[in-house]
Amino acid sequence: MDTTQNDKLVLALPKGRILEEVMPIVRRAGIEPEADFDNPKSRKLAFSTNHANIDIIRVRSFDVATFVAFGAAHLGIAGADVLMEFDNPEIYAPVDLKIGYCRMSVAESKELGDEDDPSTWSHVRVATKYPEITKKHFASRGVQAECIKLNGAMELAPLLGLSKRIVDLVSTGATLKANGLVEVEVIAEITSRLAVNRTAWKTRPDEIGHWIERFREAVDAKAS
Ligand code: PRP
Repeated sequence: MDTTQNDKLVLALPKGRILEEVMPIVRRAGIEPEADFDNPKSRKLAFSTNHANIDIIRVRSFDVATFVAFGAAHLGIAGADVLMEFDNPEIYAPVDLKIGYCRMSVAESKELGDEDDPSTWSHVRVATKYPEITKKHFASRGVQAECIKLNGAMELAPLLGLSKRIVDLVSTGATLKANGLVEVEVIAEITSRLAVNRTAWKTRPDEIGHWIERFREAVDAKAS
């Protein structure tokens, strides 16, 4: 990737498990990264593709939102959880990719959950990677939330007395169960989205519009 060439479009993809679900859609949309992309030994973070005018970068999912918000990447793929937490007006999310299905939930220890009634809460202390979503969720129902920011392994917080409750993503529920926790409230249903920088879309409507359409078709092709 030639980073000095600023007329190329940059697509930011999230690292980690979700990439396995993301790549079939990217490929169905007609974008094929250079061979190094699939080489686990490669330390490259930026890749050329079969399109001379589009490059791919691979970053952490929260950083996808940062790159797109600042226009350093024109397009990106991130979970609705990340986009909601980021809540940046420069990011527009026009396509639900219908992958990465999970939910964002409030959870607590099984013992507490057996007797707890969320409708009686007035103040909660919550460990989470999502303090903004958590505060907004609780504020909307008149509960003050004190958030302790963690970057992962939220499930440890109740076990070690950091907080009685957590807000985290739940998919199969296996992680909660393995740590003696139960879900007590669902905040949002989550899927991955195609994110677009709004200014880029305004200044390069044909190119960005083309890729939005290709991603829409790729999702529909999978559904049919
Ligand atoms: C996510 C999430 C939970 C787990 C839920 O973590 O934060 O810990 O998956 O999945 P489950 O309901 O199927 O058990 P992930 O492994 O993505 O890593 P993270 O803790 O770094 O976010």
